[in-house]
Amino acid sequence: MHVLITGGAGFIGSHLAEAYLQRGDWVTVIDDLSTGSIRNINHLKSNERFAYVIDDVCHARVTAELVDMADVVFHLAAAVGVKLIVERPVHTITTNLEGTEVVLEQASKKSKKVIIASTSEVYGKSESFPFNEEQDLVIGATRRARWAYACSKAMDEFMALAYHRERNLPATVVRLFNTVGPRQTGRYGMVIPTFVDQALRNKPITVYGDGKQRRCFGHVFDTVKCLVALAEHPGAIGKVVNIGSQHEISILDLAKLVIKITDSRSEIKFVPYEEAYAEGFEDMMRRIPDTSRLKELVGFAPEISTAEIIQSVVDDRRHRSHLR
Ligand SMILES: NC(=O)c1ccc[n+]([C@@H]2O[C@H](COP(=O)([O-])OP(=O)(O)OC[C@H]3O[C@@H](n4cnc5c(N)ncnc54)[C@H](O)[C@@H]3O)[C@@H](O)[C@H]2O)c1
Repeated sequence: MHVLITGGAGFIGSHLAEAYLQRGDWVTVIDDLSTGSIRNINHLKSNERFAYVIDDVCHARVTAELVDMADVVFHLAAAVGVKLIVERPVHTITTNLEGTEVVLEQASKKSKKVIIASTSEVYGKSESFPFNEEQDLVIGATRRARWAYACSKAMDEFMALAYHRERNLPATVVRLFNTVGPRQTGRYGMVIPTFVDQALRNKPITVYGDGKQRRCFGHVFDTVKCLVALAEHPGAIGKVVNIGSQHEISILDLAKLVIKITDSRSEIKFVPYEEAYAEGFEDMMRRIPDTSRLKELVGFAPEISTAEIIQSVVDDRRHRSHLR
């Protein structure tokens, strides 16, 4: 099988590429390296079944050629990370809408299977826990830049489902919840890599707000397992599927756990949201996925524990600094 991964030099995409190569499949990656890095795929370059193109997925002619060669397309290329989204809303909206449209249009011309990466952000401020794929989405005011990401991804979902209904495109939408693991960078506001980096340097761990907000973190290996299984399942076509862990932890407890695992001398420093982001930033208190649809389809859901996830990020950081 030939797999095309847009955003394949990114965190999740590079692990997905690795998984398919390990199965004996062929993988091509397209990435503009905006938040991804060539370092994420350097180790794959010697594999004769691996190819990569450094380009923008919005370039329809390039993407069309790559889609043509593929049996299945994973569309992961997107503007990602709360910090980036708040600071560069124009880039976020255009990248996420245009990129998805190009991929869907090209895949539809050739009837190629497509998996579109959406996000738990689309549930917005909903307080109906756990989040189920069929429930209403509760999005904040348009003057608050954060919601541009959720809305752009929600439009991606509408487009994918529309192409499926109207043009028979075999498309699946996956709503990814917080996914963590080796290679993820803290540069764009991802919490576990940020905390681990701070702890390893014995610097204060910066907890935004009062730290009582709760999240579920899934390991990227579990996410990739779910992505591969869903792509193979005919029952997933035309559906939206949550992928996430149900292990909940408060951000304050997460900071304490990182300090414990790294044996760090770091203290915890509370930072008001207004200082971290623009004034009026909204955050959600909880976010937990209903994984029954995922389990029904593929028979499992992410289960690696938060402590194991932190440990794998710590090991990755130590390994990289050792290599430097
Ligand atoms: N990591 C998470 O917790 C999480 C949660 C929800 C959804 N997602 C979704 O999963 C996908 C992958 O995210 P990730 O965490 O691996 O982030 P990432 O930033 O590491 O990956 C995104 C990749 O897309 C590339 N890219 C961006 N714009 C591009 C363009 N126009 N053309 C080509 N490449 C482009 C980036 O360089 C990067 O390599 C994204 O669609 C994201 O919205 C991730």
